[in-house]
Amino acid sequence: PPKKIAVVIGSLRQQSLNRQFAHEIIALAPASLSLDIVEIDGLALFNEDLEGNGTSAPEAWTRFRQNIASKDGVLFFTPEYNRSVPAALKNAIDIGSRPYGESVWAGKPAAIVSVSPGATGGFGANHHLRQSMVFLDMPLLQQPEAYIGGAQKLLGPDGKFNNEFTTQLMKKFIDAFAAWVELHAATSRG
Ligand code: FNR
Repeated sequence: PPKKIAVVIGSLRQQSLNRQFAHEIIALAPASLSLDIVEIDGLALFNEDLEGNGTSAPEAWTRFRQNIASKDGVLFFTPEYNRSVPAALKNAIDIGSRPYGESVWAGKPAAIVSVSPGATGGFGANHHLRQSMVFLDMPLLQQPEAYIGGAQKLLGPDGKFNNEFTTQLMKKFIDAFAAWVELHAATSRG
């Protein structure tokens, strides 16, 4: 059966460039992957007081954790906010990492695509996200890299890639991720 991949998008806005890239890359994925967008809006800001000591976690947290736990890998799309990751994405990562010792991220193969209209392709956000992934023990695809700069110029008004170069690059990326997921499937503890 195909490997189940959570697609986590760090932007909450409807016309998000990251979301458009996510849809395009999902469409290019090989049959060995089954990709589902896991939404991160509606997750209350992480606060340890909201669970434990007889209090059950907010339902949206539990649903999110169960959803990620059921997957074989994670593909992140992140915008860059002030040279780092958006708070909404960091919040989702923090929620998935707790309670202590019950992280849903551990061992899951992952990859990061950063998408920005700017020239640096979200490099800062991409690497801040990597810092968390290293600690969370997620085997992280290193090559090919995906720092997408000038992203709005690569999409047509229909939200689809408007040039063959980007399509081929992203096809190579998702194929490499599929191979990465196969390689690390055994280490996934989800
Ligand atoms: C930005 N933007 C931005 N871009 C960038 O390349 N580096 C940065 O540090 C920042 N900082 C930043 C902070 C905040 C608060 C906002 C709202 C925006 C611009 C950002 O890349 C742009 O809005 C993208 O379109 C956001 O991604 P989505 O929502 O299109 O996926």
